[in-house]
Amino acid sequence: MHSPEQESYLREVLSGLKKPQKTLPCKLFYDEEGSALFDQICDLEEYYLTRTEIGIIENNLDEISSLIGQDCLLIEFGSGSSLKIRLLLDRLKNISAYVPIDISLNHLIKSTEALSIDYESLKIRPVCADYSQPFELPPLDVTWSKKVVFYPGSTIGNFTPEQALKFLGRIAGLVGKDGSLLIGVDLKKDTETLEAAYNDKDGLTSEFNLNILRRLNRELGANFQISLWKHQAFYNKEHGRVEMHLVSLKDQSVKMNNNKIFFKTDEDILTEYSYKYGIEEFEEMVSPIFDVQHVWTDKEKKFSVQYLTVK
Ligand code: AVI
Repeated sequence: MHSPEQESYLREVLSGLKKPQKTLPCKLFYDEEGSALFDQICDLEEYYLTRTEIGIIENNLDEISSLIGQDCLLIEFGSGSSLKIRLLLDRLKNISAYVPIDISLNHLIKSTEALSIDYESLKIRPVCADYSQPFELPPLDVTWSKKVVFYPGSTIGNFTPEQALKFLGRIAGLVGKDGSLLIGVDLKKDTETLEAAYNDKDGLTSEFNLNILRRLNRELGANFQISLWKHQAFYNKEHGRVEMHLVSLKDQSVKMNNNKIFFKTDEDILTEYSYKYGIEEFEEMVSPIFDVQHVWTDKEKKFSVQYLTVK
């Protein structure tokens, strides 16, 4: 028997696989195995995003902390293992409370435990939620001068620009008029660097992508034969995005629940968009909602960290 959650999970997966361009939602990457693979990807030489972002934050902590100011309520979207936030926690003065939001209860429990050991006096108020869907903060027993959302990693790039704008509108609604957003945004660059970042030579990104099919086998009783699928990632310059796909190596059918899905040789499933922005392009996109107060980049302008305030 299926639970209602399982039913809607199955429905979402099947509706994506019935579209002319078959798709699977990229949030499916992040089960236990996928999250562990993603952590390893972040350490790869080719995957410049994580270390570049950390370097930018480290090099600009004085400015960042003075813009954020004192007594803020610091909210992190997709906090995962809450590693990057430590850079801010080490520097910011009198944080009112830290609110990590993550879909994985396991991650939240572990990271809250670890943080409360290292930051004894920090008030941590974890919230387990799928932040890509509308949600509200629970009542909090603290006061603050302003709310600041921290959204690192260029995860904003995994939305289409239209979805990103809607999502940013929801962040603005959450932080309110004096609120702000500290966000990591990956920048447009040469195709070679981008394609290497999503086609690492150790094959971790390939495993990360294929893990979606393994997950559907585990959780929805599907019978994808993993060896009949190939990871594909390329930069679509026209749309300014890296696309990840899974390509069928032969004509095949896959069973899932009572459904049968057919795939032709070379037919693909779209699993992820990762949009890259120009600095002005991003400013223009957010301009109906946010003012860009400051943009920090690395020397090579690979990545940016931006401080936005609600208009
Ligand atoms: C989480 N997100 C920003 C990553 C990205 O680069 O788009 C996910 C990822 N996909 C492949 N490698 C990493």
